[in-house]
Amino acid sequence: MSFYVRVPGTSANIGPGFDSIGIALSLYNEYEVSELESGEQFINIDPQFANAEHLMVRSIRYVEDAFGLPHKGILLKAVKEEIPVARGLGSSAAMISAGVCLANALHGLMLPSIKLLNLVSEIEGHPDNVSPALFGGLTVSCKTEDGYYTKLLTPDRCFLFAVAIPDFEVPTKEARRLLPVNVPREDAIHNLSRTGLLLGGLTDGDPDCLRRALSDRLHEPYRKKLIPDFDRVSRFMAERGAIGTVISGAGPTLLSVFSNPDRETEEKIRRFKRDEALLNQECEAHWVIRFLPVDMDGTSVVNTDWE
Ligand code: HSE
Repeated sequence: MSFYVRVPGTSANIGPGFDSIGIALSLYNEYEVSELESGEQFINIDPQFANAEHLMVRSIRYVEDAFGLPHKGILLKAVKEEIPVARGLGSSAAMISAGVCLANALHGLMLPSIKLLNLVSEIEGHPDNVSPALFGGLTVSCKTEDGYYTKLLTPDRCFLFAVAIPDFEVPTKEARRLLPVNVPREDAIHNLSRTGLLLGGLTDGDPDCLRRALSDRLHEPYRKKLIPDFDRVSRFMAERGAIGTVISGAGPTLLSVFSNPDRETEEKIRRFKRDEALLNQECEAHWVIRFLPVDMDGTSVVNTDWE
């Protein structure tokens, strides 16, 4: 059997929603996958991923082992790999979601979406990137006594998202090590209240509410030091109409939200390419800015034997 799999990049946290909220963005990795007699072969795969420990293959093996199934031989060919590695845009989550969905298709398991969610979350360890990678859209996830659970939400169409991606990596493990085990009660309240505002603002299309919501005290204060240009990029985005700028996932990519782009904002966005050069003159790292619509499809696996 052969398949075509497409999986979106994701941005987790979105300010106050640490380890629980995420959104899928239209930045894609796409692969052709065929069955082999045995083992694994890779074609065109990002060298950072191309070995027997490839996270997509490991995720396929995880599902096979969970169901006591034999390991199928896999030929994995990258068609497109747009999601940068170790930048806070969910490259690992994408590999995990693609792997779990492929195992589901390869073995004809027809697993319900809640089971897929639990498999991807167990592999990743937290659900905030894997959930939107799997389902698309805006997701709020938690771990309950019965396993992981996700509520899917649709962000209002008035919002536009931009990512500023620097030319350096921050491994998630390193960025998580910086976080304190305990937090002051006022910081917990700060985030709790803003998480409610974030979801209300994003789904109701309320930029004023969102402006107040895009503030975090659980991870950004500790991680900013890994991103020396944080304030410069945030100011640059604010001057061009951004409602707010936050660290995307564990960073170092920054996520900015824009709303109701009027003529003036549209003109400013058109000028972003030229202005990017100005920003880069001021910054320590080199930044690339991309405007990305929300992806509403999540991971799709198509059987190409029928084409
Ligand atoms: N919520 C996670 C974090 C996302 O901020 O560490 C990165 O995996």
